[in-house]
Amino acid sequence: MFAEIRGLSFRYKNSSVDNVKDFNLEMNQGEVTCILGESGSGKSTVLRLLAGLEFPLNGQMQINGKILFNEHEFVFPEKRGIGMVFQDYALFPHMTVEENIRFGLTNLSKQEKTERIREMLELVHLEDYAKRYPYELSGGQQQRVAIARAVAPKPSILLLDEPFSNLDAHLRQSIREELNGILKDTGMTSIFVTHDREDAKSIADQVVILDKGETIGKGKAIII
Ligand SMILES: Nc1ncnc2c1ncn2[C@@H]1O[C@H](COP(=O)(O)OP(=O)(O)O)[C@@H](O)[C@H]1O
Ligand SMILES: [Mg+2]
Repeated sequence: MFAEIRGLSFRYKNSSVDNVKDFNLEMNQGEVTCILGESGSGKSTVLRLLAGLEFPLNGQMQINGKILFNEHEFVFPEKRGIGMVFQDYALFPHMTVEENIRFGLTNLSKQEKTERIREMLELVHLEDYAKRYPYELSGGQQQRVAIARAVAPKPSILLLDEPFSNLDAHLRQSIREELNGILKDTGMTSIFVTHDREDAKSIADQVVILDKGETIGKGKAIII
């Protein structure tokens, strides 16, 4: 198994109940997993835990044999090799598209960085937008920059928080297809969260349904 999460649970400091309860997930390499649930079900919290932005109460996670957390260990976010696309994209407003993508690239020569940025711009079809600032882009284009920035350092897993929620309804179908294409092109193992069954149906290889922090269903068949 490429990645494995076991018995993950978590409670926010000011919460009287567990916000994530005994979350388990196994992923094969290159697979797209969807976490489906209503608003407040704990989807973003699960992603934050996997990215290392919250400290779990219990549980363990490994990717490719490397432990990211268990009862003894906690690897810091920047050392996890996990890419995250936030719901609001969180682009740096004072940086161009190219500079946003360059930001996550370390341990590469200047020439290698330039080449990687070119590859990423091609992947997300923004070759002609390298010098633009985020405010000069549409929502869909901003999202693609956020994806390019997250994918550029070649993370072992890519996490996407509600990738379709800030986009116009009429764009949703084409953006779904586009994201699906991008994920397949990179061959990247990814997890995206959504409250929309259609999103889950159209691009996920496997689906986990969350309700009040608890897994209430698993498998793609349950949503069709
Ligand atoms: N920083 C926080 N402090 C306390 N409770 C939080 C915090 N963030 C989220 N929650 C609570 O945790 C639960 C799960 O939230 P979240 O993971 O954001 O859900 P989703 O992404 O599925 O909408 C909700 O009940 C929410 O109110
Ligand atoms: Mg959320």
